[in-house]
Amino acid sequence: MNQDTMKQRAAEAALDYVEDGLIGVGTGSTVNHFIDLLATIKERIDGVVSSSEASTARLNEHGIPVLDLNIAGELALYVDGADESNHQLQLIKGGGGALTREKIVAAASRRFVCIADESKLVERLGRFPLPVEVIPMARSYVARELVNLGGTPVWREGFVTDNGNLILDVRDLEIREPIGLEQEINAIAGVVTVGLFTRRGADVLILGGPDGTRTLTA
Ligand code: A5P
Repeated sequence: MNQDTMKQRAAEAALDYVEDGLIGVGTGSTVNHFIDLLATIKERIDGVVSSSEASTARLNEHGIPVLDLNIAGELALYVDGADESNHQLQLIKGGGGALTREKIVAAASRRFVCIADESKLVERLGRFPLPVEVIPMARSYVARELVNLGGTPVWREGFVTDNGNLILDVRDLEIREPIGLEQEINAIAGVVTVGLFTRRGADVLILGGPDGTRTLTA
């Protein structure tokens, strides 16, 4: 079974968590499946807050109402993918570069359901290069600070986030204490967001696999 089918399975299982009201959606290939499924029950939802221009375009194609978070207020549910999750449901996100808006919408939601294929579950975070969104003028400074933390930052050249910023992908980090590292990197001047989601990790992780799905809770 291919990875995309496993993502599709996880997205299907997440539909069970949708209740009436407002929901938030993340970004990426797994969430794209979820958005397509959401379109089949769009009469049941009042609207969606999107975490990226890409997801907004897909929601618009389906005629699903997209709301500004400032108007929407607190959301009942946030559904998003991840690049890695550990067993505590702390995540690495931002492979698609939408980490800042994803973190905002996740924070504004009562429940975060993460959907992924089973390869995303890891014992320790950090094999996936850690994305960090930075203000353009701070790129070199932040990169030097990340080297001081033991990482090897690589500028994602040619990529600009929806917020007009840049991404550094950090390899070689030993992420022994994800909560502390999230705070430490976020405190570097010029960092907009690090793609570690620990303060607001997932509440539920649905993993698609060849034999169906399994669900982990925090
Ligand atoms: C987007 O910035 C990311 O956080 C995605 O949620 C993450 O990269 C997962 O993407 P896929 O669903 O495409 O694997």
